Amino acid sequence: MLNANIIRMSSSVRWAFNWKEWNPNEREFGQAASCIQVDEKERLKRFVFRKDVRASLVGRLLMRKFVNEYTDLPYDKITFVRDENNRPVLRHSVAVSFNVSHQGSYTVLAGEARDVKMGVDVMSLDYSERKSIPDFFRLMNRHFSTAEWEEIKDSGKSEAEQMFMFYRHWALKESYVKALGVGVFANLGSIDFQTKSGLSEGSITTDTVLHVNGIKQQNWLFEETLLDSRHCVAVALQENGSSRLHNIPFEIMNYDKLMTHAVPLFPIDSQYTIQYFAKYEQP
Ligand SMILES: CC(C)(COP(=O)(O)OP(=O)(O)OC[C@H]1O[C@@H](n2cnc3c(N)ncnc32)[C@H](O)[C@@H]1OP(=O)(O)O)[C@@H](O)C(=O)NCCC(=O)NCCS
Repeated sequence: MLNANIIRMSSSVRWAFNWKEWNPNEREFGQAASCIQVDEKERLKRFVFRKDVRASLVGRLLMRKFVNEYTDLPYDKITFVRDENNRPVLRHSVAVSFNVSHQGSYTVLAGEARDVKMGVDVMSLDYSERKSIPDFFRLMNRHFSTAEWEEIKDSGKSEAEQMFMFYRHWALKESYVKALGVGVFANLGSIDFQTKSGLSEGSITTDTVLHVNGIKQQNWLFEETLLDSRHCVAVALQENGSSRLHNIPFEIMNYDKLMTHAVPLFPIDSQYTIQYFAKYEQP
């Protein structure tokens, strides 16, 4: 199998896959599931709904594709493990960094061909809670600073605009927390983002500033964009003063691209495919 290393273009990868629009047939699902590790197959089996299986399955395949294309590791020899905070990491000591997020209709992967702290978070901009928006904001109060609430609730904004800003801030916080790898233990209220420019599809905003406990974080950079009109995404990178370009747009993947260079780890498991198709798509 031709190793995809020779077609590497950039040391940064930003990929997005719309799994909501991906309706695999039995052959496609079987092929995809045969390309992930047995422990991950077992984990996916426990999901109640098909949509959650696909969202997480795509994450596994994006990770494997990224590591295969940006290291010399053969596709079927790559092993992922989870660290003490449940973050998937490579078992091999190779200088690549990556993180995955799934929400709304998309699974995204941000990857770098170097050792760097990074995290990614995709958010659907559609408000789906039963509570009124003021009640929802009250519930979330302690997770955002006073200045952030001012940005979110800025007078004159419609409820939809307020929710847009809320989700933008949420994605920023999650991307940072995921870059640190600390998960639910982070004190989100002490993480204070100040946005400057707006977001748009096809362009990357990088002028958002982070303060933690009142101190400006000079060595963190945030890339933000819209995948489409209903999804925003944030990538957090600890840059330590490097002067890299941060204008890499997200590439929208399809199934064929996702599976280019994929090598099955196991023969197709028809029982596993039957179990997937027996599930409901969503609640
Ligand atoms: C771990 C955590 C960061 C995941 O965030 P999430 O928004 O629920 O989910 P995402 O889709 O963005 O990310 C999930 C993926 O991140 C990766 N991941 C899991 N644990 C991780 C960690 N500790 N650090 C970084 N990445 C992690 C995995 O690949 C996971 O996908 P998988 O379950 O299919 O393997 C989250 O559970 C958490 O701890 N959040 C704390 C912050 C919080 O309370 N936010 C409230 C809103 S402001």
